[in-house]
Amino acid sequence: MLSRRTSWRRRSAAVLTSLALLATGATTLAAVQLASAPPASALDNGLALTPQMGFNNWNSTHCGADFNEAMVKGIADLFVAKGLKAAGYQYVNLDDCWALPDRDAAGNLVPDPVRFPNGIKAVADYVHSKGLKFGLYSSAGTRTCDVQGFPGGLGHEQQDARLWASWGVDYLKYDNCNNQGVDARSRYTAMRDALRATGRPLLFSICEWGSTRPWTWAQPVGNSWRSTGDISDSWSSMITIAHQNQQLAPYARTGAWNDPDMLEVGNGGMTETEYRTHFSLWAEMAAPLLIGTDLRKAGQGTLDILTNADVIAVDQDPLGRQGTVVAGSGGQVVMSKPLADGGRAVTLTNESASTAAVSTTVQDLGIGGAASYAVKDLWSKTTSSTTGSLTATVPPHGTVMLRVTPGSPVPPPSGMNRLSDLPWSSAVNGWGPVERDRSNGEQQAGDGRTISIRGAAYAKGLGTHAQSEVDYYLGGGCQHLGVDVGVDDETNGNGSVDFRIYRDTTLVADSGLRTGKDPAVHLDADLTGGYELRLVVTDGGDGIDYDHADWATPTLGCA
Ligand code: GLA
Repeated sequence: MLSRRTSWRRRSAAVLTSLALLATGATTLAAVQLASAPPASALDNGLALTPQMGFNNWNSTHCGADFNEAMVKGIADLFVAKGLKAAGYQYVNLDDCWALPDRDAAGNLVPDPVRFPNGIKAVADYVHSKGLKFGLYSSAGTRTCDVQGFPGGLGHEQQDARLWASWGVDYLKYDNCNNQGVDARSRYTAMRDALRATGRPLLFSICEWGSTRPWTWAQPVGNSWRSTGDISDSWSSMITIAHQNQQLAPYARTGAWNDPDMLEVGNGGMTETEYRTHFSLWAEMAAPLLIGTDLRKAGQGTLDILTNADVIAVDQDPLGRQGTVVAGSGGQVVMSKPLADGGRAVTLTNESASTAAVSTTVQDLGIGGAASYAVKDLWSKTTSSTTGSLTATVPPHGTVMLRVTPGSPVPPPSGMNRLSDLPWSSAVNGWGPVERDRSNGEQQAGDGRTISIRGAAYAKGLGTHAQSEVDYYLGGGCQHLGVDVGVDDETNGNGSVDFRIYRDTTLVADSGLRTGKDPAVHLDADLTGGYELRLVVTDGGDGIDYDHADWATPTLGCA
């Protein structure tokens, strides 16, 4: 039999195959199995604490003549005049073709004098004068991507970064063309370091199209990384990219986001229904929101989509979680995104060609247990309530997007309760869903095994993965929790975590470091008078690889 670790390696090859299938247009949501989790840290430049929002000209102009100073200034004006700045859009970014084909005698990049007769700094100053930020483009290669091939940054990192900083650039999109076969990680790290050395905070947007699986290495390098090839203005392109990016939720975090490419909303190749799906899914996936249409020509329908404050609030939610697919069959896809207020943002998408009912339940969203839930439809703005089920009739290629917030919760019954039999009020997990009476397993619900810690098997318990928090409403009526904790044997001896139990905000038990080689340890927690029980697992300090953490036989005593 294969060791666990070997089988996981085999699965990461399966991911690539699955992603490749999705990239060729297959619409099935393959139950892909990813390898274990990514590096824990994010680039520490203080930027993109929520996904970046702004504009980039590429999707509307490419290198056409209307990409020029007048356009950029016009966009900055409209950001203010049309409420986009107020809605949160901040960066006005230039893509490829802003420079001349050759560097000057001193090796500096030179702005194209036809497009930008006053240079780039003048444009950046104008954008700044509107209270906005300014972004620029280059490639981690010898030349950029356009066929004309403008100079790239490879080997010129420090000189270029210094020049951009002197112009007041706040954001760099760094592409991947003509990279001479140099390892991606070292090329992007070189530019990260050059940007840092300028002393000016520049948001660093990696654009290597997902080709070296940047979600496995780029968290400490860039604020975002493109996860796919280029989007185009069609339903099939947009939804194929969404499918690829949906698989990558565990890799996104505050300051480090999966980027499924810039928005096509308003460019004319999709219906308004499809553009609402596009915008909803990008927000649900905590994607950067870069407007890709020429706002000078945008109709009210486009502006209404781009400024939907409820949908933007989902994208920008401070918890910083990318939504995951909780159900997907027959072209009806349900996604759930945990929100900082304990609720969920839900997308009910109908990818099929005929109207369909799309349904889910609060249990499937991981927030069962409350007596009732407030529901807001983020497009129609209607509000309602439910005791558990959520259903919408969704037009072809449409998305109904809901915000579901638990109302007054129900306390646990008196006596001894096994936690895995009770509904939690909120569950956030670092690798797929929290499992009841199973180990965490991989990313699908129910794919774990019998809970086992150093050979001891447990019939009841919770299987989690760092970083994780499972909360239960107590309502002041419980006294005690006893539980065995440890790293599950499915990691084959790998992994290290710390288990902590909080009564409201008070730490009442702490396991200290537990590794995959340690036996279970028993924790007793005094919960007297507490309103909320919080079970928290953090990584043990060596990254969140293999941090499969069991709460075994958790027994809650309530009067
Ligand atoms: C690549 C990028 C695009 C765009 C073009 C510019 O294709 O992925 O987003 O920047 O280059 O040439």
